[in-house]
Amino acid sequence: MADDALKPGDTVLVQGTGGVSIFALQFAKLAGATVIATSSSDAKLERLKALGADHLINYRSTPAWGEKVRALTGNRGVDHVIEVGGPATLEQSMIAARIGGHVSLIGILTGVAGELPLVQALVRQLRLQGVLVGSRVQQQALVRAIDANGLRPVIDRHFPLEQIAQAFQYQESNQHFGKIVLDI
Ligand SMILES: NC(=O)c1ccc[n+]([C@@H]2O[C@H](COP(=O)([O-])OP(=O)(O)OC[C@H]3O[C@@H](n4cnc5c(N)ncnc54)[C@H](OP(=O)(O)O)[C@@H]3O)[C@@H](O)[C@H]2O)c1
Repeated sequence: MADDALKPGDTVLVQGTGGVSIFALQFAKLAGATVIATSSSDAKLERLKALGADHLINYRSTPAWGEKVRALTGNRGVDHVIEVGGPATLEQSMIAARIGGHVSLIGILTGVAGELPLVQALVRQLRLQGVLVGSRVQQQALVRAIDANGLRPVIDRHFPLEQIAQAFQYQESNQHFGKIVLDI
């Protein structure tokens, strides 16, 4: 079934605790979805739980997390994957997805190229879609959704613009949870 729109009752997989994935978690919960969230840190997993994540997986201690996701969904697989890892995560994402599932390729945190296990895409009839930012109309819809539901963006830390290098170093350290903001 080729249906990209998220529906209540769908299951969404989000990876890690960066700004993209936490917004994805928040919007998926707003839309009535079940969310499976991963992180390398048990402390961060607890924070994801407090934000509404239904199931938590530590991707360091569970490298075959795709199978764990399948088990959590009664072996059905998730409807949507918010893919931010790229080459090092895509195979597990494909294992985690349901037949006909939708993988939104948004980030490439682990590199720009790698081996793709195409058999997973084939047997599960997956749909992989690149996503690059969005249009003004989409942003207005996003702001309306935030206003209507009182969603609060998760901001980890602010830096003044002059400290932009430190802000990027902080992001590189992966200590953050959510967005890092530059004040202009
Ligand atoms: N396509 C677009 O329009 C668009 C827009 C914005 C961003 N992006 C891209 O999307 C990606 C994420 O952006 P972001 O701003 O959310 O980045 P970020 O805040 O830097 O995300 C870092 C977090 O990602 C998680 N992570 C790193 N490696 C991982 C792995 N192998 N498996 C699972 N999680 C992993 C870690 O979470 P834990 O510490 O919890 O393990 C890490 O803290 C980046 O590649 C960015 O360039 C694309």
